[in-house]
Amino acid sequence: MGVVALVPAAGRGERLGYGMPKALVPVNGVPLLVRAVRGLLDSGRVRHVVVAAPPADVDVVSTVTAPSASAGGAVHVVAGGAERSDSVRLALEYALREIPGTTVVLVHDAARAFTPSAVVAAVVDAVEAGHPAVVPVLPVTDTVKEVDDRGVVTSTPDRARLRIVQTPQGFAADVLLRAHESGLHATDDAGLVERLGVPVLTVPGHQDALKITTPFDLAVARALFPEDGR
Ligand code: C5P
Repeated sequence: MGVVALVPAAGRGERLGYGMPKALVPVNGVPLLVRAVRGLLDSGRVRHVVVAAPPADVDVVSTVTAPSASAGGAVHVVAGGAERSDSVRLALEYALREIPGTTVVLVHDAARAFTPSAVVAAVVDAVEAGHPAVVPVLPVTDTVKEVDDRGVVTSTPDRARLRIVQTPQGFAADVLLRAHESGLHATDDAGLVERLGVPVLTVPGHQDALKITTPFDLAVARALFPEDGR
């Protein structure tokens, strides 16, 4: 099957406070985006990666990611949109238009640059086994409270039933397209698919797939992942 990974990387990354798009921020010499793209292609399960870049940075992102392409994998760069969901939709439309045989689509945040290849493979395997939507998850170790507008606790969900959701999220291509054409809103792609009433399967994620959002996360990544690693 044709597996295409979409990488929304068009955010400004302001919470990181680095003065450049987060995707281009280096961790021990290698930009997050490059690490993310290599991780997808190194899994051996992804043939094409479509990166959504900040519109003003399409050329620089193309230059930075081009060396990651190989005989086994191609990298394409498109201009992203105003919101993350717009960037995903634009990359998806590109894939369906330009990459023949796109049947399975992954959506992977550049910020999860250290996701192990085994997680990518597990997501692809589950979609190829017939699950229309698949997300990697971790158990929740903190107790989570729901609060009202004043910050007063309204409920305490059973922690045993909660999961932290990571990427790549995997979908049958037609299901993801339907979700993005629905006009619904959600904070992740699986959330859109859920709203269509499509079942979303979970598979085990990995702590290394942490999302690098704040300077603290960046410091953790720099400490954990050596110069010559991915
Ligand atoms: O801001 P946040 O970390 O939640 O963004 C998640 C991902 O979505 C990031 O990789 C970011 O670059 C991407 N994004 C995008 N287009 C936007 C906003 C965010 O591709 N307009």
